[in-house]
Order: sequence, then structure tokens, then C-alpha cells
Amino acid sequence: MSLVDRIKEKARSCVKRIVLPEGDEPRTLKAAEIVRAEGLADPMLITRELIAAPENAGRLASYAAGLYELRKAKGLTEEKAAALVADPMYFGMMMVKCGDADGLVSGAVHSTGDMLRPALQIIKTAPGMKLVSSSFLMECPNREIGEDGLLVYADCVVNPCPDAEELANIAVAAADTARRLCGVAEPRVAMLSFSTKGSAEHALVEKVREATRIAHALAPGLLLDGELQFDAALLPAVAALKAPESPVAGRANVLIFPDLQAGNIGYKITQRLGGADCFAVLQGLAKPCNDLSRGCSVDDIVNTVAMTSVQAQ
Ligand code: ACO
Repeated sequence: MSLVDRIKEKARSCVKRIVLPEGDEPRTLKAAEIVRAEGLADPMLITRELIAAPENAGRLASYAAGLYELRKAKGLTEEKAAALVADPMYFGMMMVKCGDADGLVSGAVHSTGDMLRPALQIIKTAPGMKLVSSSFLMECPNREIGEDGLLVYADCVVNPCPDAEELANIAVAAADTARRLCGVAEPRVAMLSFSTKGSAEHALVEKVREATRIAHALAPGLLLDGELQFDAALLPAVAALKAPESPVAGRANVLIFPDLQAGNIGYKITQRLGGADCFAVLQGLAKPCNDLSRGCSVDDIVNTVAMTSVQAQ
């Protein structure tokens, strides 16, 4: 069974309420129909007209007051809060924040930053998490790599220049996503670099080594190693030459990129040249919110809603 089919099956087992704040966008409308028909989630389409309806005036006022409380220390005024919650993205985030919905999916129209900023400001990080980041679930045609062809890449969306501590947090969160969302029993995490185990010396390599040390301290039981080059992480023959002692090299299923440029370029190469199917999820938020690409298809929206539902379970 493909990853998407497994996720859909899990989504059906406990239906969650997922907000779609781009509620008058044609692909989103079609996706909501499919999501409802397949029993993947209870989709909640939000539009400006819906928010302005008289029966929603009470909720609008209470969300405005809630947003003001959340952000007044950051200089948000009551007037500005009232204006913001009339925007479906902010209204949707407040629904999730207040427990009137379980998760949110957006991005068919909005840019990644326009969706991420309100998520970071309103939903915030989960207890114990310092950082929001992303994992890309890459389903590769070559079943001999990763976990039967599945690789988890992080971070490819959120943090442009993570320092060593942030990189360590991303690694631990990605392992958790692999385990919880993809059902990977044993995440094996490779901290990627242009060096394998001392083959090169540079401040950028030292950052990956430091992140590896911090990640070991954060998650002592986790199989994690670095610094490793991409081929040493994935291919047993290269691992045998370059990192024979490594418990991860040659069999990694979670790949941590040193910064956002590497991660974003890496996932697109795997998708476009490697023929992988890919699905993005945000990790570390207190409630699940996920971003779409503006070029997304109806199926991409359906799949992302199913994934968000599973994250909410
Ligand atoms: N985790 C947790 N909180 C964060 C994070 C993070 N990674 N980043 C920012 N924040 C918090 C800040 O602390 C701040 O909180 P506060 O206002 O309560 O103090 C709030 O979020 C806003 O932070 P800013 O730094 O003011 O926001 P900024 O304008 O820098 O935006 C953003 C943050 C949107 C995540 C930015 O870093 C960004 O644009 N990242 C890249 C997104 C992108 O374009 N990705 C690539 C394309 S996606 C694709 O190809 C699939």
C-alpha cells in the first residue's frame, strides 16, 4: 500500500475537522467534496462572505478579542485585530487555536510565508518544541533506498539558516514525523554535509558536527549520525568505504539538510529528476497546519488534508 493510501486509511479511522481558509478557490472546493465523500475529514470551507454573515458576528468578535490578547504585547491594536480576523486565514487560525477546528490546510492561493507567519504567531510551537520546521515525505521509485523507497527530508520549507541547535531540533522532529506519520519503526537519521566523517574541514561542516552532538543529547536513543554526504547516507557500498563504523550510513531513511537552500533544492531534484512523489508537513506546531504549493492539484489538497487529519489524531 502506498504512503498516501496508508495515511488516508488512518485519517478515516478518526475524522477530524480541517479548516480550508481558501474556501472559494475552485481546486479547494473540489478537494473538499472528495474529502467529505471519502470520509477523510470534515472540511470547513471559510470565505469572507461566511465570516461577514450576521450569525457569525459573535464568533468574529470573540476571535478578535482572542487575537488581541495573544498579540497585544507585540503591538497589535484592537482595531487591527478586528481587521485581521475578517481575513479567512486569520479566522481559520483562530478556529484552530480556540478548538473550533482540529487543523488547517492552505496555500493554493497564499504564499508559504503568508500562511506560516499567522501559524507561528497564533498557533505557536507545541509544548517542549523550540522550533517549527517541515518534513518532506519523499516516495521514491527505487524501493531499495530508505524505508522501502520512503525518505523523510528536513527542513525544506521554514528555517532559512538554522544554527547547530536549530538543526538538532529539526532532526529530532523529523524522526518523530517519520515514526508517527509514516509508521517508520526505526528512524535512521543522517546529518548531511559535503563532508563524510572528517573528509573536509570547514565552519559549515563543524556546524553539522555540533548539531549531531546536540541531537544525540536531545534524543539519546535515536539512531542518528553525521556528518555524512548524501551518497554515504543512502548507499551501502559508499558507506562501506567512507563511514564503515556508522550505524546510519548506507541505510538512512531521514535526511537532514544543513540549511533551507540545500533542503529545498534537494527535494525538488528528488521530485523532478528522481521521479519521487512528495508531500510536505509542518512539524513542531501546537496544532497541525499545512502549506500547499500554489501549483497544487486537487489530489495534492486531498492528500494534505488527510495528512493534517492524521497529525491531529
Ligand atoms: N519556529 C517557531 N517560531 C518561529 C520560527 C520558527 N521556525 N520562525 C519565526 N518564528 C516566530 C518568531 O519568533 C516570531 O514570533 P513573535 O512574533 O511571537 O515574536 C514570529 O514567528 C514571526 O517571526 P519573524 O521572524 O518576524 O517572521 P518572518 O517574517 O521572518 O517569517 C518565516 C518567518 C515566514 C518562517 C520566514 O522565515 C520564511 O519566509 N521562511 C521561508 C519560507 C519559504 O519561502 N520557504 C520556501 C518555499 S516553500 C516550498 O518550496 C515548498
